[in-house]
Amino acid sequence: MSDTYVRLTEVGARDGLQNEKAVITLEQRLTFLEHLVECGFPAIEVGACVSPKWVPQMAQSDELYQRLVKPEGIDFSLLTPNQKGFEAAVAVQCKEVSIFTAASESFVQKNINSTIEDSLARFADIAAQAKELGIKVRGYVSTIVDCPYDGPTDPAKVAYVAKKLYDMGCYEVSLGDTIGTGTPERIRTVLKHCSDVIPVAALAGHYHDTYGMAIANIYASLDLGLRSFDASVAGLGGCPYAKGASGNVATEDVVYLLEGLGLQTGVNKEAMLRAGQYISQVLGRQNQSRFVQATCSA
Ligand code: HMG
Ligand code: MG
Repeated sequence: MSDTYVRLTEVGARDGLQNEKAVITLEQRLTFLEHLVECGFPAIEVGACVSPKWVPQMAQSDELYQRLVKPEGIDFSLLTPNQKGFEAAVAVQCKEVSIFTAASESFVQKNINSTIEDSLARFADIAAQAKELGIKVRGYVSTIVDCPYDGPTDPAKVAYVAKKLYDMGCYEVSLGDTIGTGTPERIRTVLKHCSDVIPVAALAGHYHDTYGMAIANIYASLDLGLRSFDASVAGLGGCPYAKGASGNVATEDVVYLLEGLGLQTGVNKEAMLRAGQYISQVLGRQNQSRFVQATCSA
C-alpha cells in the first residue's frame, strides 16, 4: 500500500444521531461535537439542514454549526438536501456542504422525495452556487451495493451518479453501502467502475456495518488505493429511510485497523475514546466498537 495517510471524516454527529429514538438535546449534540473536535479528525459532519418533519433528530443543525467553536484546519460540513437547506447552511457561514443522492430510484424517492435525475439537476444548481460562494462540496452516492427497496444495484449506475457529482464540482464522492450488505468482492467491483471515471483520490468509502463487513470492505478499498473513509465513533448510525441499516463502521475500529497496517490518521486516540464513551452514555447504550469492547472496562 502506498500513501500512508488516511483521511477520516467523522460522521457520528450526523449519520450517527439521525436515526436515534432517544431524545438528544442540542446541548448534548454540542458537547458531543466538542469532544469530536478534540480528536484531530480532518473532517467532521456537524449535522443536516434537512426537513425537521422528515428527520427531527437533525433539527437546528444550523444553530449547532453556528454555536460550535470551529478551529482552523478541520473541515466542518452540513448535509443539504435542497435549496432551503443550502440557504440555511450559507446563513451560518458554513464552508462545506454535502449533497446526497443514490444509485437506486426508490431510495432517492423515499429519502429526498425525488428521482435520481431531478436530484442531480437540483444538486448541480446548488454546487454552482457553492462554487460562486467559495463553499466546498462533497457528494454522497447511497445504495452502492444493494437498495432496501430495489435490490442489487448496478455498479455502472453507481459510477454514473458518482461521475455526475464529481463533474458538478464535488471534491470528493463518498460511496455509501447504506445497508451494509457489501462484501469485499462486490465493493471492489463498484470501486473499479467508479475509478474508471473518477480519480481514486476523489473517492471515499462510507460503509455501514450491518453485516460486520465494513472493516473487510475498508481493507479491500485500501488495496484499490482509497485513502478516505467515513466512520462514526462508537459505531453510531443508520438511515431513517433504509430499514435495517445499522451503524457506520466504528471509528475506533478503523483507527485500530489502519494503525495495524502502518497507516496514519492523525487521530488522538484518548480523545476519540472519550467522545465515543460520552455519546454512548448519553444514549444509554454499549459502545458498538469492538476495539472498545475488548480494551475498555464499562
Ligand atoms: P419535501 O416534503 O418534498 O419538501 O421533502 P418540500 O419542498 O415539498 O417542503 C415540505 C416542507 O418541508 C415545507 O414546510 C418546507 O418548508 C420544508 P411546510 O410548508 O410544510 O411547513 N422544508 C424544509 N425545512 C427545513 N429544511 C429544509 C427543508 N426543505 C423543505 N431543507 C426534503 C424534501 C428533501 C426536504 C426531505 O425529503 C428531507 O428533508 N429529506 C432528508 C432525509 C434525510 O436526511 N435522510 C438521511 C440522510 S442521507 C443518509 O443517511 C445516507 C448517507 O449517510 C450515505 C449512506 O449511508 O448511504 C449520506
Ligand atoms: Mg450513512
